[in-house]
Amino acid sequence: MLAVAVLAAGKGTRMKSALPKVLQPLAGATLVERVLSSARNLQPERRLLIVGHQAERVEDQLKPLGGLEFVLQQPQNGTGHAVQQLLPVLEGFEGELLVLNGDVPLLRADTIDALVNGHRSSGADVTLLTARLEDPTGYGRVFADEKGMVSAIVEHRDCSDEQRSNNLTNAGIYCFNWKALAAVLPTLSTDNDQGELYLTDTVAMLPKAMHLEVADPDEVNGINNRRQLAQCEELLQQRLRHHWMDEGVTFIDPQSCTLSEACSFGRDVVIEPQTHIRGRSEIGDNCRIGPGSLLENATLGEGVSVVHSVVRDATVGNNVAIGPFAHLRPAAEVGDDCRIGNFVEVKKSQLGAGTKVNHLSYIGDASLGKNVNVGAGTITANYDGVRKHRTVIGDNSKTGANSVLVAPISIGNQVTIGAGSTITKDVGDGALAIGRAKQMTKEGWAQRPV
Ligand code: UD1
Ligand code: CA
Repeated sequence: MLAVAVLAAGKGTRMKSALPKVLQPLAGATLVERVLSSARNLQPERRLLIVGHQAERVEDQLKPLGGLEFVLQQPQNGTGHAVQQLLPVLEGFEGELLVLNGDVPLLRADTIDALVNGHRSSGADVTLLTARLEDPTGYGRVFADEKGMVSAIVEHRDCSDEQRSNNLTNAGIYCFNWKALAAVLPTLSTDNDQGELYLTDTVAMLPKAMHLEVADPDEVNGINNRRQLAQCEELLQQRLRHHWMDEGVTFIDPQSCTLSEACSFGRDVVIEPQTHIRGRSEIGDNCRIGPGSLLENATLGEGVSVVHSVVRDATVGNNVAIGPFAHLRPAAEVGDDCRIGNFVEVKKSQLGAGTKVNHLSYIGDASLGKNVNVGAGTITANYDGVRKHRTVIGDNSKTGANSVLVAPISIGNQVTIGAGSTITKDVGDGALAIGRAKQMTKEGWAQRPV
């Protein structure tokens, strides 16, 4: 049996933030969500989350994940005190307890698997992950022999100068034999620089403590301040970009682009500089995105180009050209072979295949058929100050430059709207509609007597 406990009760004082540290975001997911997902392969029987500082906020954020037991630690008197809260919760539990610090977000699932498997086969009371760091400042130092047996962990601030020169550091990830841990937990003392109960002190109390050194020290980066948050973001972004490069995506200037974990790409996609792809965006084969674009929860078919544009919560078909400077907003659905040109905003609207909105338009709450040509500056006036209303335009219709379509309104198939029209009444199939003041021209005006 395996139980996983994530320590997420700390305030994260060094972040200087109103947001609890474990809720800080990294590439679109919070630190604690990342930590939880690093244990996903193990399918533990119990998943415990120790909460304290802003406990409700942390719980609210994580409840939707399901299957979590929240354990309150109040006040927060150190990592050992945090795990002491599990004594009543795990009474009678037999098996291993995997403890994960809530601020170590880059761990790979394979690494956690190796830790638990190594622990099970060695029969140790505890096995912890370690790393040799070039700069171990701030981390607990691990004292071990060449066989991997650990005698003690000493926190950075409690180390002598000599102890500090040891660069074998504690990652904050431990696999315990729960019964052995439960026996020593109540005996922890606060005899240290911070006057807290340290989980790390249990290691010296357990008869057989071992460590597993990670091959890639980047994995065990702990986040205590915003510099470390930024470093982790950089590492994570690099991981994500490398993953997608291996899957057939070209990045012209990789460092200038960011991705989310949940986005996905087809083959031969080209990501131009300064492009950011967030949320659950799905990008089809042969798309070219950027430069300078932001996509969030965007679904793009194949062969779409997006230049200097923003696409959010929108769906786009195949072979569509978007931008420069277009804005697709939530529930925009753009069909195949459409063209969305400069300074065009589309919201909650469906555009049929081959429809073109090339210049300076607002299309909101509208249904456009196939091969509609929306003239420059056409506006769907969807809002009467109280409610939103729909505009419907049939196949093969054209609106002249600067048309205003006052919704609710229905324009049929093959309709032509004269330039500069304000259309307030429905127009049937095949008609020409013009709604503008007649032009008056006064000859010789410049020479008039004054
Ligand atoms: C801890 C380890 C250190 C290790 C480092 C790795 C201890 C005493 N030290 O130090 O050896 O090198 O992590 O990153 O464990 N938390 C609680 N309740 C508390 C205090 C903390 O739940 O009362 C949680 C925090 O939310 C955080 C985690 O425990 O997620 C670690 O706490 P933190 O204060 O960051 O420990 P470090 O000083 O980094
Ligand atoms: Ca920490």
